[in-house]
Amino acid sequence: MKCLPVARLLLAAAAPIRAALSWRNVNIGGGGGFVGGIVFHPTAKGVAYARTDIGGLYRLNADDSWTAVTDSLATNEKWGSWGVDAVAIDAQDSTKVYAALGMYTNDWDPNHGVIARSSDKGATWSTTELPFKVGGNMPGRGMGERLAVDPKNSKIIYFGARSGNGLWKSVDGGVTFAKVSSFTNTGPYIVTPGDSYNGDKQGLSFITFDSTSAVANGATSRIFVGTADNVTASVYVSTDAGSSWTAVPGQPKSYFPHNDGTGPYDGTMGGIYRYDMTNGTWKNITPASGSDLYFGFGGLGVDMVKPGTLVAATLNSWWPDAQLFRSTDSGTTWSKIWEWGNYPAQNWYYGLRTENAPWVDAGFISQDSKRLGWMIEALEIDPLDSNHWLYATGLTVFGGHDLTSWDTVHNVSLSILAKGIEEMAVQGLASPPGGSELLAAVGDDSGFTFKSSSDLGTPPKSPWMTPMWTTSTDVDYAGNKPASIVRIGNSAGSQQVAVSADGGVSWNINYAAGTTQYGGTVAYSADADTILWSSSNAGVLRSQQQSTFSAVASLPSSAVIAANKRNNTVFYASAGAAFYRSTNTASSFTAITGALAGATSVRDIAAHPQVAGEVWVSTSSGLFRSTDYGATFSSAGVGKISDTQQISFGLGSGSTWNLYAFGTGAGGAKLYASADNGATWADVQGSQGFGSIAACRVVGSGNVAGQIYVGTNGRGVFYAKGVVSGGGSATTTLVTSTTAKATTTTTTTMTTTTSAVVTTSMPATTVKTTTTSSSAAATGTGTAQHWSQCGGVGWQGSTACVVPYECKSQNDYYAQCL
Ligand SMILES: *[C@@H]1O[C@H](CO)[C@@H](O)[C@H](O)[C@H]1NC(C)=O
Ligand SMILES: *[C@@H]1O[C@H](CO)[C@@H](O)[C@H](O)[C@H]1NC(C)=O
Ligand SMILES: *[C@@H]1O[C@H](CO)[C@@H](O)[C@H](O)[C@H]1NC(C)=O
Ligand SMILES: *[C@@H]1O[C@H](CO)[C@@H](O)[C@H](O)[C@H]1NC(C)=O
Repeated sequence: MKCLPVARLLLAAAAPIRAALSWRNVNIGGGGGFVGGIVFHPTAKGVAYARTDIGGLYRLNADDSWTAVTDSLATNEKWGSWGVDAVAIDAQDSTKVYAALGMYTNDWDPNHGVIARSSDKGATWSTTELPFKVGGNMPGRGMGERLAVDPKNSKIIYFGARSGNGLWKSVDGGVTFAKVSSFTNTGPYIVTPGDSYNGDKQGLSFITFDSTSAVANGATSRIFVGTADNVTASVYVSTDAGSSWTAVPGQPKSYFPHNDGTGPYDGTMGGIYRYDMTNGTWKNITPASGSDLYFGFGGLGVDMVKPGTLVAATLNSWWPDAQLFRSTDSGTTWSKIWEWGNYPAQNWYYGLRTENAPWVDAGFISQDSKRLGWMIEALEIDPLDSNHWLYATGLTVFGGHDLTSWDTVHNVSLSILAKGIEEMAVQGLASPPGGSELLAAVGDDSGFTFKSSSDLGTPPKSPWMTPMWTTSTDVDYAGNKPASIVRIGNSAGSQQVAVSADGGVSWNINYAAGTTQYGGTVAYSADADTILWSSSNAGVLRSQQQSTFSAVASLPSSAVIAANKRNNTVFYASAGAAFYRSTNTASSFTAITGALAGATSVRDIAAHPQVAGEVWVSTSSGLFRSTDYGATFSSAGVGKISDTQQISFGLGSGSTWNLYAFGTGAGGAKLYASADNGATWADVQGSQGFGSIAACRVVGSGNVAGQIYVGTNGRGVFYAKGVVSGGGSATTTLVTSTTAKATTTTTTTMTTTTSAVVTTSMPATTVKTTTTSSSAAATGTGTAQHWSQCGGVGWQGSTACVVPYECKSQNDYYAQCL
């Protein structure tokens, strides 16, 4: 272990530089979450955007990487701005981009949605608030782009709302919107009436202009609108520039534009139909039939250079894998990206490169038969390059630059092309002094270890595995043995505690845990002999020397917990406004009466990494500090930072330790740093958005002076480094900027040519709808509940999980709704 002298000196090490810290992502790479839509500019080569459901909007760079462009909008107050329900480009101006922002249409998101508009490819934005909510993370978020700019008139923008709010139109370039009263279908489909999440009308699913149609009064005359409606009609058309609308005649009814469900998790049956706009006929071009058709369709990309050439993807084919189909004759014939060989062998007509995110291979692709992904709704062929294509899954973005090789040698090179998309939902962070530089517990993708600071720019080779849980909810280290790490998983059915003795590189299941307890937070005693676990569902539990976890009677469920980092016998806990201390290695806790005067709830406890007696508590009333093992507290930072959330120590200048706290200070609800025990606080967040500060995790580096990590709920881990000076006024920001700011980086290599949108500039447009949702042989009916089996070899039951759970393959024989 590295020896860090304990010093209480307050040092102002560097000349004050009055600039905010610059933040960039820890490079986990590979996305790590769902991408609901990708939109290419029709004529400006290389201009494209990818939207995520909780991690904002990204712009494509010439080197296949992506740059986040909506971070500045995701303030604490407007955290829902990282939910992107639709993105649109302006065919006539490649610098312009529009996005419909807002995360939930229920009461989870307090704000109305906005239409954000940018004239510099997302570097800066203006927003217009809508009179209702937008649901970037609601069901049906991948059905298409429900926001579109008229390709012949940049002032005209349509937005298809959720929640029964109908179609809206702007005639001033997105500054104001008014309801289109002539469009009466509101997209009434509700997955589960009465359900808090699934109980809302999904609304309109896409808007697309026929750029070949006549221009009427300066506007494109023919416009198609899709609706979440499998009863009346799901595709409407106007031929008079939006004055009147009719259901497109002859459309296959009873289905959504795509699938028998609206995605992204469901779909057991579907079809693909081609609508010929010249004579108004529909043709069923579904690429599978009979027992081979056991899935619905999601992504569909058309080649704008070669009319009649397209690629379609299954939305959710959980076993053995997704399938992708390609046609060069408008869907008359199709070929597949893989076929069965000598069963169970498969012939893969593709190579798959994962070096941009090796952990995707280690943790997912190599683990079961699914390679090509799931939840495939975004699939686009570059409108100016028939070889360049991208498709997105529930995990990452795949793509390549040799798509037409499918037609010649029937073999394409797929790569993970999600570099720069960082959408991890971070659950817990740790940076042990003298240990691994960063441990990140995340949702959906287990977690990651970065051994040293120099690794932060390199995607990990592996997620946390053996055991690998879908979601890790917390991680902690033992203060006196920083190579000893403990983490917690969130999947009942097996032990959800794992320990590492090598700094989080290799792991062992802790069999002291039961198989029904899961989730919550964890604290490791200083000498690594005792684990205290505040579980999600089984109260606070304790295990010493591998003994069976047993309830800690003196603590309420969901208590906030922490271990003293130097003294193995001491633990802290809090629930409500009460503070508890244990001096017998968490066997029992005693309430310290009056410890946190005035506080009504405790948010976090941070024990000093080096000073045994020092512990800080973050509460609704701000921070409290104890220097006597929690026996007595004094309020700290009063009048300077209040309503604090997560807090952390981090190595500061010289051998001092800084404090980092999310809370409300002079600059608003943000991240602040103090180098003088809370006497003064500097705003170290600056203009970087971290979303809701209550959802953020923060940890100061235990090893690199001035380095801070912030874990977000959907935008991965950020880090920055600077010098925080003590003294001065509360509002003084004294920080040295050392990193580049990702969100405002513009890519000079982008070329700007121009133009058009969707499939409608071709003679025929291909519209995704579904056929009968009959009982397919290979899939069961109904929806599997949380924790239920949902797949595996020979599985006959449902492969769709009740939202929001995902069917995750555990091995070839077992998949579970997690
Ligand atoms: C519409 O879709 C839902 C979800 O798949 C299904 O339960 C319902 O039966 C469908 N309705 C019709 C008329 O097909
Ligand atoms: C419509 O046009 C397509 C060719 O684009 C043709 O195959 C089809 O037969 C036509 N249908 C009718 C009813 O004319
Ligand atoms: C397609 O190419 C990849 C990469 O070269 C190769 O691994 C794979 O075997 C090829 N597929 C077939 C069916 O030959
Ligand atoms: C550790 O804490 C216990 C309980 O408060 C105390 O009795 C003991 O002296 C402490 N040990 C050290 C080395 O400070």
